[in-house]
Amino acid sequence: MNNIDAKELRTAFGSYMTGVTVATAQASDGSYVGFTANSFTSVSMDPPLLLVCPGNHLSSLSVFEEVEHFAINILSHGQESVSNLFASSKTSRFEQLRWEADEHGSPILNDVAASFSCVVHQRITAGDHMILIGRVTGFSNTKNGGLGYCRSGYFSLEKERQADMLTRSGLTGFAGAIIQYQDTLLLQLDDNGLSIPTLALDNELSARSSLTQHFNIIGLHASIGPVYSLYDDEDQSTRYTFLKAAALSSETGGLGQYVPISSIETQDFDNSSQRNMVERYIREFQSQEFGLYIGSSQTGEIHRDDY
Ligand SMILES: Cc1cc2nc3c(=O)[nH]c(=O)nc-3n(C[C@H](O)[C@H](O)[C@H](O)COP(=O)(O)O)c2cc1C
Repeated sequence: MNNIDAKELRTAFGSYMTGVTVATAQASDGSYVGFTANSFTSVSMDPPLLLVCPGNHLSSLSVFEEVEHFAINILSHGQESVSNLFASSKTSRFEQLRWEADEHGSPILNDVAASFSCVVHQRITAGDHMILIGRVTGFSNTKNGGLGYCRSGYFSLEKERQADMLTRSGLTGFAGAIIQYQDTLLLQLDDNGLSIPTLALDNELSARSSLTQHFNIIGLHASIGPVYSLYDDEDQSTRYTFLKAAALSSETGGLGQYVPISSIETQDFDNSSQRNMVERYIREFQSQEFGLYIGSSQTGEIHRDDY
């Protein structure tokens, strides 16, 4: 590939924020196939066209090369697990969730933001992918917010808005970041034990902007992801907002040290809210299904919509 570094190119392509879809079809033997795709694009209104790009690596490629019909399901926020199901090599995907076939047998998944039934309009070979253009023959739409994807992580504007509204409440604010680099987390260790890097919020700035500004100042290259935990400590009239972040290198910006997730001793956290948060993070890291905690330092709810 000339002098282009494939890994860096993939990372650069991955900086483009997209939604997440699942493309589905019924094979000629009657079985159902589907794969997670963020290469979806609407193409034309008249005629109504859309496209998706199945890659040569897909186990279902031959089906998408032959079928006359397929469907696109636009995932809702909270459907990370559906995306993961159709993005990891597993059999019997369709037994694990609720769906109905459209009139040509293409699976339409329950609770998606929108879905489109298509007849194949054109197939174009393009390198190691195919551009599959469909003409929309039917669709459904809901008010569900969409699931977002950027730099290998999911996000939800809906949840961010909810978190932002709560942030404008007049409490003294602190922002923290759970900063992951590969299989490690950036943690601080002092005489009180372990803690998550946290800073006092400037009232003018949101948690995200404050962290972004601070990371720039200390030279920590990290991409800040979704809000992970938002809770009030009413005794101290304080609100804590923790965001997920992915460090782009092993530099720490002097914030602490990277500790392998598998060897974090959560009992070493002096602060029980942070201990609970890191325990949850370790669990969710295993399943790669991250929720958003909203509540107080004592009780709250984890927002993770199941399918
Ligand atoms: C967010 C996301 C977007 C993806 N987009 C595409 C895509 O547009 N085209 C593609 O061929 N694979 C895409 N993939 C990868 C496939 O979903 C993945 O390789 C899947 O396991 C393929 O199905 P298979 O296991 O049946 O081969 C994407 C994966 C994720 C997580």
